Amino acid sequence: MSSERVTLQEQVENGHLDTVPDDYLVSEQDRMKFEDNSCDARQLPVIEMDGVDGERRGLVVQQIRSVCEEWGFFQVKNHGVPSSLMKRMQGEIREFFELPYEEKNKIRARTDGSTLPDEGYSDRVGLKEGSANWSDRLRLYTLPAPSRRYELWPKHPPSFRETLEEYCEEQDKLMSRISELISEGLGLRTSYLNDYFAGKYQQQMQVNYYPPCPQPDVTMGLRKHSDNNLLTLILQDSTAGLQVKKDGQWITVKPTEGWFVVNVGDQIEILSNGRYRSAEHRAFVSSKPRISIATFSMPSNETVVSPIVELLGGKERPKYRAISFSDFKESFYYAGWAKATTGKGHLDHLLVSQD
Ligand code: OGA
Ligand code: NI
Repeated sequence: MSSERVTLQEQVENGHLDTVPDDYLVSEQDRMKFEDNSCDARQLPVIEMDGVDGERRGLVVQQIRSVCEEWGFFQVKNHGVPSSLMKRMQGEIREFFELPYEEKNKIRARTDGSTLPDEGYSDRVGLKEGSANWSDRLRLYTLPAPSRRYELWPKHPPSFRETLEEYCEEQDKLMSRISELISEGLGLRTSYLNDYFAGKYQQQMQVNYYPPCPQPDVTMGLRKHSDNNLLTLILQDSTAGLQVKKDGQWITVKPTEGWFVVNVGDQIEILSNGRYRSAEHRAFVSSKPRISIATFSMPSNETVVSPIVELLGGKERPKYRAISFSDFKESFYYAGWAKATTGKGHLDHLLVSQD
């Protein structure tokens, strides 16, 4: 087998890699520094979802509002997604990544235009754009159901298809409950965001597999970025890796079994006219493998997103230009992503001059 067809995962497992290849090196400035891991005192806020449909609602709406304004990131517990389903999903995903490369390669992401970009399994994420992340990936479109390309879904383990179908429905329910709380936090009617995207919505699943790394301090699993979508739910395993930028410092999100990390995407930043911010985050790697399962909710490609008129109240000027989701991805996000060091620079293109 030529070395080109061997994944990072396999090279590491076979003991063939004791340094990080040049393609994966990140600039000095983007590396993990000692101080990035030394401020454990700060923790990402946690929101208790139990009782949110009863007397605790007012309190939770306030909490959501302040974490969306101040962090753009939070965790949720007692969120209603069955823990048995979360464990099943994590176990079956791990089984998939442990399959031989030939097996995973059967659902390899193609870039020949026959499928949505990057749908399926890929390794050396970002390498073709010139800057590889220390990660392999499985990306699938999950909702609406007719957009599914089952030929790109893992066949092993055999129960995976059913597990993912159940999981993505549960993620959708949770996203919808969080969208209601976000709407209320913005002073809008409960169903505002869900109505805005009714029939104009898609969901995508991205599993990030970060192989064990021989030199974690010279590379990154996922470079700093903000998510380009509406909301992201992240299910982490027990290995730490996710970091969120808060007041100029990187904060590590300690994994807690049974919780989800929730992340405000760029589209919510635009809709809320900048009240809620999409936060920069990244994933570092270590000597242990790590799997994170991210669910992205996003507008359908042709949906035009702009600051919500009701929020502007006739007085406030929109800070962002209206743009379709596909144009947003095309012109700004991927341009920024390809350079991989711009963080949130892509949103600046949308800013309307305020003078
Ligand atoms: C992502 C992401 C973080 C993680 O997939 O966009 O930020 O912890 N993942 O893997
Ligand atoms: Ni992200």
